[in-house]
Amino acid sequence: MKISFAKSALPTSGAYVVGVLADKTLTPSAQAVDEATGGALTRAMGAARFEGKAEQSLTLLAPTGTDLDKVIALGLGEPGKLDAAAWQAFGGSACAALSGDKDGSIAVDAIEGCPLAGDDAAANVGFGALLRSYRFDKYRTTEKKDDKPRLSKLHVLSDASGAKKAFGALEAVAEGIFLTRNLVSEPANILGPEEFAKECRKLEKVGLKITVLGEKEMTKLGMGSLVSVGNGSARESQLVVMEWNGGKEGDAPVAFVGKGVCFDSGGISIKPAAGMEDMKWDMAGAGVVTGLMKALAGREAKVNAVGLIGLVENMPSGTATRPGDVVTSMSGQTIEVINTDAEGRLVLADVLTYAQKEYKPREIIDLATLTGAIIIALGSEHAGLFSNNDDLSQAITEAGTLSGEKVWRLPLGDAYDKQIKSDIADMKNVGGREAGSITAAQFLQRFIKDTPWAHIDIAGVTWSKKDTATVPKGGTAFGVRLLNAFVETRYEKG
Ligand code: BES
Ligand code: MN
Ligand code: ZN
Repeated sequence: MKISFAKSALPTSGAYVVGVLADKTLTPSAQAVDEATGGALTRAMGAARFEGKAEQSLTLLAPTGTDLDKVIALGLGEPGKLDAAAWQAFGGSACAALSGDKDGSIAVDAIEGCPLAGDDAAANVGFGALLRSYRFDKYRTTEKKDDKPRLSKLHVLSDASGAKKAFGALEAVAEGIFLTRNLVSEPANILGPEEFAKECRKLEKVGLKITVLGEKEMTKLGMGSLVSVGNGSARESQLVVMEWNGGKEGDAPVAFVGKGVCFDSGGISIKPAAGMEDMKWDMAGAGVVTGLMKALAGREAKVNAVGLIGLVENMPSGTATRPGDVVTSMSGQTIEVINTDAEGRLVLADVLTYAQKEYKPREIIDLATLTGAIIIALGSEHAGLFSNNDDLSQAITEAGTLSGEKVWRLPLGDAYDKQIKSDIADMKNVGGREAGSITAAQFLQRFIKDTPWAHIDIAGVTWSKKDTATVPKGGTAFGVRLLNAFVETRYEKG
């Protein structure tokens, strides 16, 4: 969908979205509609018990006194709460309400007392609308035209003259998000480790430096932990490194590490059949890192960043790793594989070691659909955050509030670490039945030396079963907006 920006005015055709604030307070654009229609909007609001609460909507069809097809009044809620995330939600809901229309416009008014206004407000409305317009429909060949959304162009109308420019950076972030959503939605027969690496290579054209290691090179580097996960698969494991150097020369980079299990059958410790299809998106951590790197390059972020993703397929076969096998990681530490379904940590262990050795990063953040237990703990409202550093942890938490992609910190500690002691190796890859997300994080921490590190468990937030304002159901790309905001506030403004 194309987003364009123009001066505020009552449009003369098509469908038009206007905002109404809490307690039915009309914005100037809603006021103009009310006057043109002889008070029809005010009367309809009364009849429909429309209060102007955020996300509430009301449609007036073919309103007399105008040439419009329809006017949609959309609740904006309290002015004091209109931050970037709220304006994005307004844009996203407007986009959904307009999906059946050919020609749509949204009014973004100057509102007193709101935390984000002017160019940034208008740009964020466009950004939210764009995010909501996403569809993964490449495999639909028989869908009727009438069933597809019609809206292909959306006009954001405001008095902000710099909105288009402010939108430029957000559009680059949206492109990163769309790449992540595409990767996450793609089925595993189409997207295996090598195909994923090929998609990463395409990012050379946006200015990223891409390096791909195959199984031979990884074996040579001693990555026995990562490689053991792919042993049961007919497909070759890959490690992709993506570098963006937009910061000061010589500044240590921030490293983003992603779990990229292109399909997680569980391996020999095979998963039950019900819901196993979801495990095509067990590469979401890698998908988010890839989309984030594209976004940073696309908006020419002033930061040195490196993205590292471990790509594997976890399958049962005669060559698969067995429960009880002992593998040696690149760090030299040995691991007793008790459960082959706890594979994500085995992949991350070697990628984390490689990241520290090769890039000496200032700090490391990893993302992974690591545990089912995090879904039990936090549902889909927050991702789980674990860290060895309070300052880093706080910066990520604040970026979560700012971006609307929220995280919640959970504890680490020796008492949990004890649970992964092995009788025959340095550690085992699972703890007991309790605190599964924490023992998984504890396992990762054993591969971190002195670098500030944070782990984000995104298993509960990666895939949405329902539409939300800016995220259609399916792959959410949770983490791209979060870490883009993190980079912006910690590296570019600070
Ligand atoms: N990829 C799964 C975690 C997962 C589950 C992600 C559901 C998204 C939705 C991970 O590899 C896994 O299988 N974890 C096991 C760990 C257990 C064997 C210790 C789990 O959570 O059950
Ligand atoms: Mn698993
Ligand atoms: Zn997994």
